[in-house]
Amino acid sequence: MVRGDVADIEIRLLVEALYLRYAHDFRDYSRASLRRRVLHACERMDQPTVSALQEKVLHDESAFTELLQYLTVPVSEMFRDPDYYLAVREHVVPILRTYPSLKVWVAGCSTGEEAYSLAILLHEEGLLERTLLYATDINPRSLERARQGVFPLDAMKGYTANYQRAGGREGLAAYYTAGYDRAIFQRELRQRITFADHSLATDSVFAETQFVSCRNVLIYFNRPLQDRALGLFRESLVHRGFLGLGSKETLEFSSHARGFEAVAQRERLYRKVGGTT
Ligand SMILES: C[S@@+](CC[C@H](N)C(=O)[O-])C[C@H]1O[C@@H](n2cnc3c(N)ncnc32)[C@H](O)[C@@H]1O
Repeated sequence: MVRGDVADIEIRLLVEALYLRYAHDFRDYSRASLRRRVLHACERMDQPTVSALQEKVLHDESAFTELLQYLTVPVSEMFRDPDYYLAVREHVVPILRTYPSLKVWVAGCSTGEEAYSLAILLHEEGLLERTLLYATDINPRSLERARQGVFPLDAMKGYTANYQRAGGREGLAAYYTAGYDRAIFQRELRQRITFADHSLATDSVFAETQFVSCRNVLIYFNRPLQDRALGLFRESLVHRGFLGLGSKETLEFSSHARGFEAVAQRERLYRKVGGTT
């Protein structure tokens, strides 16, 4: 047996152990990228083998929290893919205006950049005051950072460029206070967002929503888990509600494909249609 095969066995045992010990379910994550991330974690956490890593995280909860940082890819950006936000302004906002109150779910929100971007967009469209945003993730460290609404000041230049290309109406600086090397986003934005722990792999739907934005999360899942997540979004969305995905994600091969129609195909914006299959 070659060494690679042993690592694959160890990774299967590791994800089983994580599920049994911490109820975090990585069993249906895309195998190749999970493998890369586990091996990277071994290096960074100074563990000679995946089995050694498994032993460590089983007995040491803080090691599990550290491993979670490698397994979950907590990278994000404000107004990432500006065309997506332009398409939200163009296609989603006019319909959202017709509702007296709104719920928006940002699934896999990481450190909050996507949720704050949508809150700013909704504010500029005069809709934030009637909106509750639910922003969920499985990484407690990311959620804590998201709740604080504090981002590195040196990221603001790039975020401002994104914001302008996304149809921003002010200057991004209108929404934060700069302090030393940090940008602290307004309390008025933070107050409209509830950050909460929720797993697309194990949890169920918790609210009826008009718009679900789940970007750059499904790429890490295998097909059955993508279908599970899309099923949750479909169940959560009101009739004719909107779904936004990441630029490398598609509904095309999903068992839920017929439950949605494309609103802006290139920007991965979809709308729920009737029917149950
Ligand atoms: C690359 S980030 C995407 C962040 C943001 N949506 C964006 O597009 O900038 C992927 C996020 O998905 C989260 N994630 C991974 N598995 C998840 C699951 N089962 N349920 C919910 N979120 C998950 C990770 O913790 C991570 O924060």
